[in-house]
Amino acid sequence: MTLNVVFLPGDGVGPEVSDSARSILEATVAKFNLDLSMQTCAFGGAAIDSYGDPFPVETQQACLSADAIFLGAVGGPKWDGAEKRPESGLLALRKTLDVYANLRPVQVLSGMENLSPLKPDLARNIDILIVRELTGGLYFGDRTEGDMSASDICTYTRAEVQRVARIAFRAARERRGKVVSVDKANVLATSRLWRSSVIDLHQSEFADVELEHMLVDAMAMKLIQCPAEYDVLLTENLFGDILSDEASVLSGSIGMAPSASLGDGTRGLYEPIHGSAPDIAGTGKANPVGAILSVAMLLRHSLEVPEAADIIEVGVQQAIKAGYGTGDIGGQDSTQNFTEKLIALL
Ligand code: IPM
Ligand code: MG
Repeated sequence: MTLNVVFLPGDGVGPEVSDSARSILEATVAKFNLDLSMQTCAFGGAAIDSYGDPFPVETQQACLSADAIFLGAVGGPKWDGAEKRPESGLLALRKTLDVYANLRPVQVLSGMENLSPLKPDLARNIDILIVRELTGGLYFGDRTEGDMSASDICTYTRAEVQRVARIAFRAARERRGKVVSVDKANVLATSRLWRSSVIDLHQSEFADVELEHMLVDAMAMKLIQCPAEYDVLLTENLFGDILSDEASVLSGSIGMAPSASLGDGTRGLYEPIHGSAPDIAGTGKANPVGAILSVAMLLRHSLEVPEAADIIEVGVQQAIKAGYGTGDIGGQDSTQNFTEKLIALL
């Protein structure tokens, strides 16, 4: 059976890191003899320019019939204030695929503590998985726009909370068995529903996993104070957006962090968590590691070739230990150079 991967390069540095991702996937296909077809579609600002729509119908159809989708990055100043924004295409893509659980791992590998902005002692042994709810909350609620007043409505249902919590608990079982559920239950009604839904699911299905609750402001602080204490962090859409940027930089650069967005089946959407970085687009400075590690997640979760994912992950560690890397992590390689060196290592 031919597996089908769709690439959405998007905007800014998106096309550059997508090229890296694609080369790595091609190298893996050759090594593992996978039967794979790859296709590239227009998305984001680039699609607004050519189709007048950030998520054109052709792209929607290709994504719906894909086994996995890789996304570079979307957005940029060019489309700020435009009637259609690239970001709305991204939200529609997530909703269309119903990928409600966004997995964002952050690791500081031994010997790489010096890349972290934290003191090496604090950075040592960081290994966190953020599970962010991705298709609900403020991002998808009704909103009103106005010059004098505006509103965004946040809604969550018990079912929406429990389906993403289930993914977090399952992931914890494969890791160190600890989940911290992050909310703002001292103020928000949605957070109180969040907390009680997580508690009920924990009692009925996951009593073997350790569960703790933390307010989001305290969590933001703890991530800087004692990040190595945390295993899986489970949270809602907006909090997860913010905390995952904060956490990702603990490993040295946001350019290093991958993500996988999953739903009920094996189909997934994979993207580095960095943005389109328009200031460095086209300069070859973009760090492709987040994109490359996203390909590893794609191979693990959607194509179900964990051996290939392992090889890429170990290869990236070796490459960085060998001093290869882009400027953001103190190296001298261009995006393409790093990718070529890594392929040689693999
Ligand atoms: C992310 C990004 C997006 C989000 C933007 C581009 C809409 O910041 O994937 O974290 O907020 O979800
Ligand atoms: Mg974000």
